[in-house]
Amino acid sequence: MAQFPPIMPDKPVLLHGGDYNPEQWIKEKDVIWPIDMQLAKKAGVNTLSVGIFSWSMLEPEEGVYRFEWLDEVMDMLAQNGIKAILATPSGARPAWMAEKYPEVLRVDAMRHRQLFGTRHNHCLSSPVYREKVRKINTLLAQRYKDHPALGMWHISNEYGGECHCPLCQDAFRKWLKARYGTVDNMNNAFWNTFWSHRYSSFEQVESPSPIGESCNLGLSLAWRRFTSDQFCDFYSWEIAPLKEITPDIPCTANLMDFFPGIDYFKFGKLLDRASWDNYPPWTGDERDKESALHASIMHDIIRGVGGQKPFMMMESSPSAVNWHTINPLRRPGILMLQGLQAIAHGSDTVQYFQFRKGRGSSEQYHGAIIGHDNSDKTRIFREVSEVGQTLAQISEVCGSAPESKVALIYDWDNFWILNEAQFGNNQDKKYIQTVKDHYAAWKALGHQVDMIDQSCDLSPYRIVCGPMQYLLHDGFAEKVEQFVRSGGTYVATYITGWVNEENLAHMGGYPGPLRQVLGIWDEETDALDDTKKNSFTYKGKRYACKEVCALVHPEGANTLAAYENDFYQGMPALTKNAFGKGCAYYIAARTDRDFLKALYADIAEESGLQPLLENVPDGVICTERIGENGRFLFIMNPQPESCTLFLPSCLNLRTKEMLDGEYTLGAYEVLVLKGQ
Ligand code: GLA
Ligand code: ZN
Repeated sequence: MAQFPPIMPDKPVLLHGGDYNPEQWIKEKDVIWPIDMQLAKKAGVNTLSVGIFSWSMLEPEEGVYRFEWLDEVMDMLAQNGIKAILATPSGARPAWMAEKYPEVLRVDAMRHRQLFGTRHNHCLSSPVYREKVRKINTLLAQRYKDHPALGMWHISNEYGGECHCPLCQDAFRKWLKARYGTVDNMNNAFWNTFWSHRYSSFEQVESPSPIGESCNLGLSLAWRRFTSDQFCDFYSWEIAPLKEITPDIPCTANLMDFFPGIDYFKFGKLLDRASWDNYPPWTGDERDKESALHASIMHDIIRGVGGQKPFMMMESSPSAVNWHTINPLRRPGILMLQGLQAIAHGSDTVQYFQFRKGRGSSEQYHGAIIGHDNSDKTRIFREVSEVGQTLAQISEVCGSAPESKVALIYDWDNFWILNEAQFGNNQDKKYIQTVKDHYAAWKALGHQVDMIDQSCDLSPYRIVCGPMQYLLHDGFAEKVEQFVRSGGTYVATYITGWVNEENLAHMGGYPGPLRQVLGIWDEETDALDDTKKNSFTYKGKRYACKEVCALVHPEGANTLAAYENDFYQGMPALTKNAFGKGCAYYIAARTDRDFLKALYADIAEESGLQPLLENVPDGVICTERIGENGRFLFIMNPQPESCTLFLPSCLNLRTKEMLDGEYTLGAYEVLVLKGQ
């Protein structure tokens, strides 16, 4: 049982709040700000994120600082018992900086320097930009270090993108040199004798570009790793003065949904708490089941990225967003589900973008707690207030965390390289979809799942599933062997162990270094288009295979199911290899979720693993958090129909009633239960 400290020591409760831009209302502050405070308290808001895009208001001219308005905001928050999640302003920079120092502007892959505009578009290598960030971050920390409102630092906003300017090229070359040492090593790692691409100096290397090097997979992977590392480096740069001046104030950076640009598992190691922005396309119909599943896996990924500690849902929309193609209103109940779903997966916060809707510009119609009606009379305001009340009712959940015996591997290296590797189906290797299918199967069975990457410790788990682990990091196969030898169950699939960390094929047959533990040789892989299917029968039931079928030879493993069609009829579609005290499964073909559910039910039983709930109705998601205040079971129904389930004897934390046995879970209802 792990009990984690509250995110802000002097607010040991679940946090509720959102992005707040009082500076947009500076001319009407005497009217608007008091309304904001009054409504914030009414809605049960206890934190507000301020200063996120405030640079031009904080430093309207170079070296001219205007902190007075922020002083007033911070004082006002403190007076109203609201904690500030204070942002560094680097998410968007003022026009004067771009005008005076064009080097702060990014250069795109076509080598065009961008103009001033939008946000998140600065060169992270630029010494000028770095110095300006260091300066303003230092001033913020010095000014507010003892302010009672300061609860946390919000670093920049949704880091992302890339820059191909000369400064970044230089930084990339230095990164290559540090990684490879010599040009020869780099050439060998990238297989550069191919098409005569051998370099004779690091200076010749340019970042990938449609007008230059666009087919060198090793280089592309290196560029992705470099840009990701650049964000790690920039984040460390941003927090350096904060850590020096306010060592006890935690720092976070808000992450995004399956964002390709940063290896979040690596980046997460730098964060005091992980946080992310969650924007599911809730449609109010049966599609919400899949949207909820997507949000669940993302919550679990972010928790994994943050080292399985309670994390933060830093943003979510209180109502329709304004940037999906179609932005339907949220059906009643969805907002509560969205908030409690985050808590259920280990978030200690429910926060929104945005607290108050701006009057103009591109987010003028984005959902907000306070709309243009400027009142508390709206449905959205009422629903947000209900979330606030509910979070207060279930506050004892704060600091508890899920405990899982099942881990599912998802990693950025495979996300990156499978997008570029050319074989099989080049439209979509479906890496993310596949990971989601495996996740869905475990959730359908009512199990808790931890999302991890190859660098994580496997020893806390009984079952580790690594779908499509095409690229294997050095040492990972040994880790899997050790895990299985000591009694664990490892599950691998087709397209595993083809390349090493440098994207060079494993010689001697796939799945490379996992061959022994899996007890198979994977010789060839067939790609099936939508007109073709194969099948196999497992425990008397026939399952369809689609899209990917690997042709596998057992080398010690038992065949549990075999292909029923095509020239590879009779070859294994599913194998199981005993290894030490444990075993390893190989799923050779892509199937639907029904098969994964059947297989995982058997594997769970073999491992003696109990689900959180038996007979989970379709679409319902269960999670658990355990802490010093007890065990909390969350059961969510993310769909417009009700369903029936059977509960163990428990306390409904929201109503304080005892429940036991049959229960009708309403549309979009979330149960928060405390075990006996
Ligand atoms: C992102 C940003 C916010 C805002 C919202 C709108 O998550 O961080 O500033 O633009 O999207 O949904
Ligand atoms: Zn640059």
